[in-house]
Amino acid sequence: MKNNLNAQIRPATLADLDALVALEAATFNYSQMGRASFRRLLQAPSAHFHVACGAEHTLLGYYLLLTRSNSKRWRLYSIATSAQARGMGLGRALLEHAIDYARQQGAGELSLEVKTDNKAAIALYQALDFAVVDLLLNYYDDDHASDGYRMRLSL
Ligand SMILES: CC(C)(COP(=O)(O)OP(=O)(O)OC[C@H]1O[C@@H](n2cnc3c(N)ncnc32)[C@H](O)[C@@H]1OP(=O)(O)O)[C@@H](O)C(=O)NCCC(=O)NCCS
Repeated sequence: MKNNLNAQIRPATLADLDALVALEAATFNYSQMGRASFRRLLQAPSAHFHVACGAEHTLLGYYLLLTRSNSKRWRLYSIATSAQARGMGLGRALLEHAIDYARQQGAGELSLEVKTDNKAAIALYQALDFAVVDLLLNYYDDDHASDGYRMRLSL
């Protein structure tokens, strides 16, 4: 998968745990996943986890897809790129990878939730044809009980 950073996208392993926890802590001040959650999800059959790595295996981003057995409805639970890697095509490369991967695994749709003020993420999702299907009032447990959008892509 091409991006301006020449990052390699590959399945995540437990060896990525420390770097994932650090990236998450630097990225989100709401709905942040902790070490125990990452550890559990890295080993869960229902979780499909990929990371993007740069030179010397530096972690530059990740995405996490969740599903239930036999379900065609998949969820993009999280996606993030590190602050120094943003605006260089990596978020798009990760999301394109996630869409291709989910499609190949037989998913029929991909849904996600995003804060209504997260302009960068919403623009990325719209660029890859996700559409807003729902407004989720007070969805987030941050200081402002922010609203969210549910967005969906048919595969
Ligand atoms: C959202 C995020 C993953 C985008 O990653 P990125 O590596 O910067 O994305 P890219 O460089 O591939 O940009 C892809 C598209 O996203 C949109 N985008 C990215 N940054 C943007 C910004 N600051 N403002 C508006 N749109 C932006 C654009 O549509 C862009 O396409 P373009 O370059 O053709 O204009 C990144 O900003 C991030 O990790 N944010 C913090 C975590 C987060 O909010 N995750 C989503 C939770 S729902």
